[in-house]
Amino acid sequence: MGLHVKPILPKFGAECSGLDITRELSPAELKQVTDAMDTYGVCVYRDTGLTDEQHVEFSRNFGYLERVPTREGFKMRLPFRELFDASNLNPEGEITTDEAAISYRKGDRLWHTDSAFMEKRTSYSLLLAHEVPSEGGETWFADTRSAYEDLPEEMKLFLEDKVGINSLWWSRKQAGADIPEEEIDARFKARHPLVHVHRGSGRKALFIAAHTMDIEGMDKQEGRDLIKQLIEHCTQPQYIFSVKWNAGDLVIWDNLCTMHKGGEYDYKSFKRDMRRTTVREGTEPHTMDLDDSFTKLFADSPKVVDIQGARAAGR
Ligand code: OGA
Ligand code: MN
Repeated sequence: MGLHVKPILPKFGAECSGLDITRELSPAELKQVTDAMDTYGVCVYRDTGLTDEQHVEFSRNFGYLERVPTREGFKMRLPFRELFDASNLNPEGEITTDEAAISYRKGDRLWHTDSAFMEKRTSYSLLLAHEVPSEGGETWFADTRSAYEDLPEEMKLFLEDKVGINSLWWSRKQAGADIPEEEIDARFKARHPLVHVHRGSGRKALFIAAHTMDIEGMDKQEGRDLIKQLIEHCTQPQYIFSVKWNAGDLVIWDNLCTMHKGGEYDYKSFKRDMRRTTVREGTEPHTMDLDDSFTKLFADSPKVVDIQGARAAGR
């Protein structure tokens, strides 16, 4: 049976069913999966039955998987470095009480795209729910292609050659972490055009995120006001929807034509165990052993900006 694709909004988001993604897919099946992604940007696969290993293996169909940074002496909760931990749990699997880990995750509840702060961005993110709270904790998605298309022509012209400056530290500061701007300025920042052609569809998309700090060549305040205005534009009701999770659900989103954010929930009372694989843009299926850029970026991060903050919890 082929993939069944049911749109959520007319041009954005789809519930996908009818394909067993725990096993190896044929080239034709894989094309159905990527075609649905190119058209809808976000695809929801319910009750997949994926194990950690199958989650990683399925993800390799889409390119090189980034690996979680290694750090001497820290225990990993998850069994593979290809699994990023988006949970509120410590390495022992209990709800974390570590303020740095909690603060880090707050950044995920701002509209963002994954790895916008890296030179090589993330194309697909594949997030699998293992355990979810009984209420709240949905994830929101925004359509940055339709939002771009609906901008006034003069704004499109203005944005055409603009470049955004992106920093992970900036988004964590926006989420409340106490990081002086001088420290952010001293660290790596990634430059990405604010508008680009989305490869899979040929449609133009905005590329902005909570990580986008400044716009190159613009007055700082004017640039920041414009970034805020663009994020508000993209996240109007007609461009967004939320996914309510059950354990076993997998959502794939294409960061190059979407933004997303985690919804609020009572993170001190409920376990929310979410695991994510992260595909590097422009890489081929099953590419292995490229550089380890996340380890490099995070080598000297303060704990509040450690992507594996949760891993360090309690120690
Ligand atoms: C992520 C992310 C939000 C969520 O994993 O990249 O932003 O709802 N997650 O868990
Ligand atoms: Mn994210």
